[in-house]
Amino acid sequence: MRHGTTSVVQDLDVGQEAARRRSFAVISHPDAGKSTLTEALALHAHAITEAGHINGKSGRRHTVSDWMEMEQARGISITSASLQFSYRDTVINLLDTPGHADFSEDTYRVLSAVDAAVMLIDAAKGLEAQTMKLFAVCKHRGIPLITIINKWDRPGLDALALMDEITEKTGLEPTPLTWPVGVAGDFRGVVDRSSGNYVRFTPTSGGAHVAPEDVLPPAAAAAQEGAAWDTAVEESELLGASGQDYDPESFLAGISTPVLFASAVRNFGVHALLDVLVDVAPSPGPRPAVGGEPRAVDDPFSAFVFKMQAGMDTSHRDRLAFIRVCSGMFERGMVVTHGRTGRPFATKYAQQAFGRERTVIDTAYPGDVVGLVNGADLRVGDTLYLDKKVEYPPLPTFAPEHFAVVRAKDAGKYKQFRRGVAQLEAEGVVQVLRSDLRGDQAPVLAAVGPMQFEVAEHRMATEFNSPVYLDRLGYTIALRTTREWAKVIGAERGVEVLAREDGELLALFPDPWRVSSVRTHHPNAVLEKPTAA
Ligand code: G4P
Repeated sequence: MRHGTTSVVQDLDVGQEAARRRSFAVISHPDAGKSTLTEALALHAHAITEAGHINGKSGRRHTVSDWMEMEQARGISITSASLQFSYRDTVINLLDTPGHADFSEDTYRVLSAVDAAVMLIDAAKGLEAQTMKLFAVCKHRGIPLITIINKWDRPGLDALALMDEITEKTGLEPTPLTWPVGVAGDFRGVVDRSSGNYVRFTPTSGGAHVAPEDVLPPAAAAAQEGAAWDTAVEESELLGASGQDYDPESFLAGISTPVLFASAVRNFGVHALLDVLVDVAPSPGPRPAVGGEPRAVDDPFSAFVFKMQAGMDTSHRDRLAFIRVCSGMFERGMVVTHGRTGRPFATKYAQQAFGRERTVIDTAYPGDVVGLVNGADLRVGDTLYLDKKVEYPPLPTFAPEHFAVVRAKDAGKYKQFRRGVAQLEAEGVVQVLRSDLRGDQAPVLAAVGPMQFEVAEHRMATEFNSPVYLDRLGYTIALRTTREWAKVIGAERGVEVLAREDGELLALFPDPWRVSSVRTHHPNAVLEKPTAA
């Protein structure tokens, strides 16, 4: 049953392979420079030869991850995949997260598949709303965070003030690994705080090639940079005096965050980030399982689906289920067990995908991402395993805030309509809510952000050949209730109770006042936030 493996590969020790994996995602507010940083990282790791191949937007080379027409038209990235490259002796998996807040749920799922995250901050803007939202997710999941202050080549906030903002808004202790020489807008280089040396940057034209970095001892730096160097050293000492030196234990415990200063567009500080990922970011560890011992990385193969992706290749109309390997070795062709159904699942078509680029994967190890082409039966959150049974906790869903009834424009295409809705539901593109009253022909789509509806509408028409009408409903709040309470709550004016596929019953309310009035009428009613996040 096994394909494409060699005895050398089979002999490799899974524990060792896991130890040299680093899987992370970048969290940031749109426009902070995530796409630029992704390109720069891949460039440094020599995965690509010139920046601009991966995620460039308007004016830059065509992006690999913006493949849906809609994404291209809007210049946003909805779909996520992963980029794998090696750096030093380490295999780095960078999982792409959608930039727009409407797709927070997708981002959340991606964050369930990483071991660390990079929080990218625009030096001029500080911590913005979407960054804070994603930070909260990382905190909740205990994901260690590395912070990058980006765009230091442009005028921005004071470096010490930014550190204070991180402490105030996140509660994390910033422990800078580098400190900028020159204020924002006059970026000359950084003090490497562990050695005390000066890392000087030389800009390249448009940042398109790896920028040379020279390392100078402190005396030479002082002679060259004068007051800018002295200020940087003073501030760095000040940080040391207040206990803001890098500390591996508190970083891994999610108490402190190492900080780097960078200019992604000029390729400054990117090298340092790669070194930090290799030297301090955690490798995959044992993963907690439902009702059992955590699965160790060298246990038999296991993985979970964190992302479904369709329409990546419009000529094939295919569907990929992305899994994160949690334990053991994945070998293309092996037959694993699909936890939810208990049925065997063949992994003949395994791929690695970042945007349009795809390569066949023969083997993968804990921390790696594999795209399974024939994953139509899989759902987001499903576990796959070999030998010893394991079930990973379901991926929590967000509380939807937007609701719309969906109907087929052409009643004769009911089959296509049903198939499309079921598929969008399995992929987690939107949540689908049903009730006997509304029937199967007009279920309610529920979303965290309205752009999810646009994706659903677009895909129903182009992929499932069933154009739909979407009628927005006036609800804004969904609260979980029980079967016992559903009838009572559902009978209240302006309130409706619908069932989600996972069995959850959601009571929909138009506004908070309606919620409090129903609570006043029924003080004992079960009405809870549906999110586990
Ligand atoms: P995102 O994925 O986080 O949304 O951000 P993206 O990388 O697309 O960057 C947003 C804008 O910020 C881009 O400019 C990009 O060139 C710029 N940028 C990213 N990093 C830096 C940096 O370190 N310094 C400076 N000065 N700018 C940076 P744009 O004008 O929107 O697009 P483009 O025409 O340059 O592609």
